[in-house]
Amino acid sequence: MSRDRLRPSHDPAIKRGLYSLQDNTRVIFSYLTRLFLILCLIFSVSLVLYTSFSSSNKNQFWHRIPHAARTGTVLSPGPPTNISHVLFGIGGSAATWRDRSVYSSIWWVPDVTRGFVWLDKKIDSPRTNINGPPAKVSSPEWTRFKYSSSRSAVRIARIISDSVKLRLPDVRWFVMGDDDTVYYIDNLVSVLSRYDHNQMWYIGGNSESVEQDVMHSYDMAFGGGGFALSYPLAERLVSILDGCLDRYYYFYGSDQRIWACISEIGVPITRERGFHQFDIRGSAYGLLAAHPLAPLVSLHHLDALEPLFPNHNHKESLKSIHQAYQADPPRIFQQTFCHDSKRKWSISIAWGYTVQLHPLLLPAMDLQTPVQTFKTWRSWSNGPFTFNTRPEPDLCKRPVVFMLERVKKGGFNGSLTSYKRIEHEPGNTCKTTQYAQAMSVQRILVSSLKMEPDYWKKSYVQAPRRYCCELMNKGIVKNNSMQLRIRKCRNRESITSGLD
Ligand SMILES: *[C@@H]1O[C@H](CO)[C@@H](O)[C@H](O)[C@H]1NC(C)=O
Ligand SMILES: *[C@@H]1O[C@H](CO)[C@@H](O)[C@H](O)[C@H]1NC(C)=O
Ligand SMILES: *[C@@H]1O[C@H](CO)[C@@H](O)[C@H](O)[C@H]1NC(C)=O
Repeated sequence: MSRDRLRPSHDPAIKRGLYSLQDNTRVIFSYLTRLFLILCLIFSVSLVLYTSFSSSNKNQFWHRIPHAARTGTVLSPGPPTNISHVLFGIGGSAATWRDRSVYSSIWWVPDVTRGFVWLDKKIDSPRTNINGPPAKVSSPEWTRFKYSSSRSAVRIARIISDSVKLRLPDVRWFVMGDDDTVYYIDNLVSVLSRYDHNQMWYIGGNSESVEQDVMHSYDMAFGGGGFALSYPLAERLVSILDGCLDRYYYFYGSDQRIWACISEIGVPITRERGFHQFDIRGSAYGLLAAHPLAPLVSLHHLDALEPLFPNHNHKESLKSIHQAYQADPPRIFQQTFCHDSKRKWSISIAWGYTVQLHPLLLPAMDLQTPVQTFKTWRSWSNGPFTFNTRPEPDLCKRPVVFMLERVKKGGFNGSLTSYKRIEHEPGNTCKTTQYAQAMSVQRILVSSLKMEPDYWKKSYVQAPRRYCCELMNKGIVKNNSMQLRIRKCRNRESITSGLD
């Protein structure tokens, strides 16, 4: 760069007298300009290096970019969506509400969550459970409609009309579900806030059992897992619903009627993998121990399954999970792997639920595939499911299983969870020394920093990646306990060491 070019005399702007400087000042000025340019260059280069090599601080950088630039097209305009923008519509019945209210008492937060359980008739004490949603009686027209197998399906389908007609202020989303649907509301809000609530969205999940999807529809949001309708879609739907219910009177469920009507509007389902219809039988353990890399939004059909924890009933199991969920909502059930190449152990953590210690080296692709501890919903068959499963391994390849015992938060910006080994039935244990060594671990302690509360809100622009895990104290088992730490992976990190 020649100095002449920086001399302002040739610059029309300068000639106009923008700067009337003495020669010396001009020289100093030109040096300062170059110094400034060089500093700018150094700054931008270091910013690039900083953002590509620092993994833990990347999020702070995120926060400086305006929200609109981060979220691109899937921007929810206006103030971010929160729980008060959601109106829940819960399908219940007077006969079963007393028992079923156990489920909503787990997730319902008085004065925070909004919505109603809709019943077929009045019950003596509408608020059977102090922590539950208030009850309302469905508007009586539902008995007018045609039906073939299930009359109450018409009533449940019309809950969306009853909810919209309340005209409650500031509702962006209607979330419909059953009285035995359990929601994880922080994650639900994270998922919904990714979508523009001023457009027509139909969000949910389908059945795990292929036989159910074939019989009903792959394109339908199954009601037990819960589904969300944005305000504009709900309003459009309600305007055609009553005629539509008579057209599709031959369907079995309310969710299928809703789907058929929404199809007439032309809106497809948007699938989110955290809605769980749980059309499975037996034990959900294998599925929950290998949850997909997506936020847990709902669980359903728990009555029909074995309790999620051995020696717990359904309610106690849900309470344990809820305790972990409250300590770090985005992380609940998220899976992480540790490998110990010296002892040839593979460890899989499903955070807040279970740890599995395999006394052999297993690649990530196996660890992330659910073990089939369950059957299909309708025919109790071994599949097919809408995801891959693997069979339960032989005795000596089976993991030693630890279940959530305690959750600790506070003290630091993180959590400490402990998992206790469950006893095998006598005579049902592998007798190798490798296995005995693994069995000597009584407890696994897992520490982690909390995930950012809006981690899942950003997951359209922030590509998902499983977290990494490392053995603390070189994996030494002290006081029968082993300590692990979950953290973000380093850029170049992968699970290959020791697998060859
Ligand atoms: C939700 O957002 C609205 C703004 O749209 C705000 O007025 C309200 O206080 C928020 N509620 C909660 C629970 O954060
Ligand atoms: C805690 O950690 C999360 C991310 O792990 C971060 O977003 C948050 O700002 C931290 N809070 C404090 C008080 O350090
Ligand atoms: C050993 O583990 C037991 C059970 O968790 C615990 O109560 C005890 O405090 C631990 N002892 C030491 C020295 O850490």
